[in-house]
Amino acid sequence: MVTWIKGGDVVDPVKGVVEKTDLIIEKGKVAKILPPGVFNDKIPEMRTINASNKLVIPGLIDMHVHLREPGHEHKETIASGGRAAVAGGFTAVACMPNTTPPNDCQSVTEFILEQAKRAGLVRVYPVAAITVGQKGETLTEFIELRAAGAVAVSDDGLPVVNSQVMRRGLEYAARHDLRVISHSEDISLSKGGVMHEGTISRRIGLPGIPAASEEIMVFRDISLARLANCPVHIAHVSTAGSVELIRRAKDEGVHVTAETAPHYFSLDHTAVMGYNTRAKVNPPLRTPQDVQAIKEGLRQGVIDVIATDHAPHSALEKDTEFVKAAFGLIGLETALALTLELVRDGILGLPEAIAKLCYNAAHILGVPGGRLVEGGDADIALVDPGYEYVLKEKNIISKSRNSPFIGKTLKGRNEITMVGGEIVWERDE
Ligand code: DOR
Repeated sequence: MVTWIKGGDVVDPVKGVVEKTDLIIEKGKVAKILPPGVFNDKIPEMRTINASNKLVIPGLIDMHVHLREPGHEHKETIASGGRAAVAGGFTAVACMPNTTPPNDCQSVTEFILEQAKRAGLVRVYPVAAITVGQKGETLTEFIELRAAGAVAVSDDGLPVVNSQVMRRGLEYAARHDLRVISHSEDISLSKGGVMHEGTISRRIGLPGIPAASEEIMVFRDISLARLANCPVHIAHVSTAGSVELIRRAKDEGVHVTAETAPHYFSLDHTAVMGYNTRAKVNPPLRTPQDVQAIKEGLRQGVIDVIATDHAPHSALEKDTEFVKAAFGLIGLETALALTLELVRDGILGLPEAIAKLCYNAAHILGVPGGRLVEGGDADIALVDPGYEYVLKEKNIISKSRNSPFIGKTLKGRNEITMVGGEIVWERDE
């Protein structure tokens, strides 16, 4: 079937433009990109999607999600996380290895891809563990993992404490076309902490995680990338100091890329007040000055990617005392609206914002997508940028409900998601 996406504002994150354009979709691909009014073929059984007043964007690509399968299916599965992803406008996600068992061998990577195929919604790119069992001791079999379909390696959720292991991991990964994603945390400093160490933690009497816990490891991993002359990607950047370290490293020509998550530019540590476990996340929400620096880092291109760090946890793990609650919050269904806020605030241009939500991640991971081009996969999201709504718990698609944005007004909503030319999500109200 041919699909005509008619009269939308099509965003090209590479050319940096938004243009009223028609898209013709055929056999899963973008067959033609045409100025409006040019296409008027009468093809039998053609589906027409009226996209006027809508943004037509490349399907979003989230390079940092936790899908919890295998092992924690009560929080999320590959299928339920896939549904949350396509609802949020994502057409591809890279899933972190901290499952049970962890994704540290070929069979787990294959299992994930098999489940993703069965769910048939979103493209899933497994991120394998750097070390066996995420124990930080022995490197995993990168060649086998790559062959099985892993696109990157990370011990996310935990740092690789041993610098020599990390150095060898960077060298080995570069040779086998795998990006290393650094979970930058000095656990000797963060241990026991449950929120950002600062004025609020002192006021409400909770043990803190200092900014230095992140920055020490960002510094180390940049130093190792320089030493090994290999690329490194810094996950979930949350502090002004990290932004500064990454800026300097980039200026010096170190091959470092970085991501932050929407919660680090939308919320600060005051969100924890009232012992709100939905705002408990690692790294923690930081100060308003850090939030400013993250925004500035995004604006200046120091931070390349906006990834959600979608970390579902059930009520069992979240509706408990703050110190005992699990770290993490869900993000797939709110990322787009929160990023569009940066556009409305004049921090990012629309194509730039979309680039950080798709093209840049594709480029870093070496996967297709992130741009709509003739002959490319028809992975597309259709967005109503002006739609305002209050996020309600009952409307969340993810299996878990741990969002600090419940009850908040969001603006901008994904309406239709297409993967390989098939509509995998359509909002029904
Ligand atoms: O808050 C977090 N939750 N940070 C991490 O690094 C891991 C994640 C999880 O897996 O729950």
